[in-house]
Amino acid sequence: MNDAIQTGDVRPTQTAELPQLSVIVPTFNERGNVATLFRRLETALAGVAFEVVFVDDNSPDRTWQVVRALARQDRRVRCIRRVGRRGLSGACIEGILASSAPYAAVIDADLQHDETQLSKMLKLLQGGDLDLVVGSRYVEGGSAESFNKQRAGASALATEVARRVLRVKIADPMSGFFMISRESFEQVAPQLSTQGFKILLDVIVTAGGRLRVKEIPYTFGSRLHGESKLDSMVALDFLGLVLAKLTNDIVSLRFLLFALVGSLGLIVHFVALYISLEVFDLEFPEAQATAALCAMTSNFVLNNFFTYRDQRLRGFGILRGLILFYLVCSVGLLANVGVAFSVYDQEPIWWLAGAAGALMGVVWNYAMSGLFVWRKR
Ligand code: GDD
Ligand code: MN
Repeated sequence: MNDAIQTGDVRPTQTAELPQLSVIVPTFNERGNVATLFRRLETALAGVAFEVVFVDDNSPDRTWQVVRALARQDRRVRCIRRVGRRGLSGACIEGILASSAPYAAVIDADLQHDETQLSKMLKLLQGGDLDLVVGSRYVEGGSAESFNKQRAGASALATEVARRVLRVKIADPMSGFFMISRESFEQVAPQLSTQGFKILLDVIVTAGGRLRVKEIPYTFGSRLHGESKLDSMVALDFLGLVLAKLTNDIVSLRFLLFALVGSLGLIVHFVALYISLEVFDLEFPEAQATAALCAMTSNFVLNNFFTYRDQRLRGFGILRGLILFYLVCSVGLLANVGVAFSVYDQEPIWWLAGAAGALMGVVWNYAMSGLFVWRKR
């Protein structure tokens, strides 16, 4: 298919230096690891024309500076410094799409993956019978020695869910270590989720069985420097990916969380209303207004903490966001009541009208909050 693409007058003499493999390394606060990783890649890939693309999300420890220094010494090193964005999957996608070698590998910066497997993975792909080679902890010969009990359990559970619910066949779909042909990746890239960290799982599910995959064992080692960025909240990201893939991207975990927080807000509202009336002896209109304010505030805090954890507002941004959220919700309430009235007008069934209004309200609030309160910077 590449034959059809016009590239103009490219001189063939240049091709000898072109990379056959692009190694993508997502980094966040990995200052102490990147140089060591590069040296090890040099050794492991001796004789292979390769390049390394570090994709750094503007790390506070300035990992990108170290990468830039490396890149000035060696043209095989490239640095993508992303600002205003966070996320392992998004970084990997961007790195692969910013490179052009026929094969791309993803490997962590902290040396937990086994870079010595890369040349074997490349040979397997170059054989032409495979599209994807996965470094696997869960096939014979592989292991995850550095996992504690809790992490091992979580990993096993997620793997089981992926296999049963998403019908993924491989043993280690949670692996962050793999190599893929460019052609296969470019096909699925537009459908991938940039949120979260399960890029391999996403690639496999999105490709829907079209990929010829092989797993090769490796031992997931211990981190060299720094600490893991995956906290217990990644379970939410994982659930979100499962939901999105199951429903063809119709239902997002974000929307479900937003609606769930909204329902909790209803409880907060009633409790606050009761307290305002009974304990503080407020008049009904004041009590109702106080209760609404309490509910909106608690919704905002919960959404900021869970629903939009990847874009969490901080510092002064919280105040600004809160005021915008009040505004969005007030208009949402008008929309809610308006829709409920008109439904009731047509069909005087109270619960139907109520439900239609509530649905209108939550969809409005969700859409507008995404646009104005937690908008992507
Ligand atoms: N650019 C970017 N942005 N990189 C990130 C981000 C981010 O938001 N979060 C993490 N990284 C980078 C880290 O700097 C590291 O190089 C790599 O992604 C993996 O992150 P770790 O924090 O070391 O994750 P882990 O070791 O707990 O998890 C690894 O093992 C899992 C298998 O159990 C990762 O490889 C996971 O992808 C994998 O599923
Ligand atoms: Mn790690």
